[in-house]
Amino acid sequence: MIDQINNNQQTTTYDKGYKWLHWLMAALVILMFMATFGFAQANTDAAKIEMLTGHSSIGSVIFLLFVIRFCKRFIFKSPRPKHELAPLTNVGAKVGHLTLYSLLFYVPVTGYLSARAHELPVYWFGQLNLATLTGYQQSSFEMIRSFHQLGVQTLMVVVVLHIAAAVFHGLVKRDGVFSSMWPDRKTKSE
Ligand code: HEM
Ligand code: HEM
Repeated sequence: MIDQINNNQQTTTYDKGYKWLHWLMAALVILMFMATFGFAQANTDAAKIEMLTGHSSIGSVIFLLFVIRFCKRFIFKSPRPKHELAPLTNVGAKVGHLTLYSLLFYVPVTGYLSARAHELPVYWFGQLNLATLTGYQQSSFEMIRSFHQLGVQTLMVVVVLHIAAAVFHGLVKRDGVFSSMWPDRKTKSE
């Protein structure tokens, strides 16, 4: 609330809401990357169904957090820090963040479509079966899943670059970019 009062003031760090959303989503997305091994190791239908249940449920939580984050950032335009960066670095950061936002939308949506087309039941939170497209076709499932996989692989690359950039700012540049998203720092309004 105090953050809202300070809407027009310059802030040096992301507020608590941004930080919670950022770190919760970061942890969940990295956990979801492990599905690469999880699905590869699931040898029986029962193991695959269990994997699909957990994966689709956590994926939906990520999507819900994405919607909240998107509204906070782009619709309500909650204030964010403005860093003093070289013009090229600034463009790079903007492009990188927009790419991350786009992939955080694209990956869960293509995941959902893969679940819809799946041969096995995908019990969302152990309840609702998402795999309800009638007439399972191996080729269409594989095509949709390959879109999901491509999105995941692109997200992995962008996240690695993002982390490298964040660490570079934190250890080499020491320009306040890293600490602006770091949980321990108190926001200006506190
Ligand atoms: C940020 C969110 C997500 C990430 C990072 C993610 C990641 C992954 C990964 C790493 C795989 C394994 C790909 C491989 O075989 O190498 C996968 C497969 C899959 N994901 Fe996701 N996923 C996400 C969201 C979702 C959601 C929301 C759903 C469904 C509601 C979903 C459904 C599926 C399905 C059906 C597969 C294919 C499983 C199979 O091969 O049988 N994903 N995902
Ligand atoms: C899956 C993992 C991650 C995702 C999807 C992600 C996503 C994002 C996004 C979308 C932003 C832009 C925030 C905005 O302006 O609205 C951001 C900012 C930031 N992230 Fe991450 N992030 C991840 C992991 C990390 C990690 C591990 C670190 C630290 C090592 C980190 C450090 C930062 C920093 C310092 C900022 C602020 C950058 C700035 O204001 O220019 N992120 N992150």
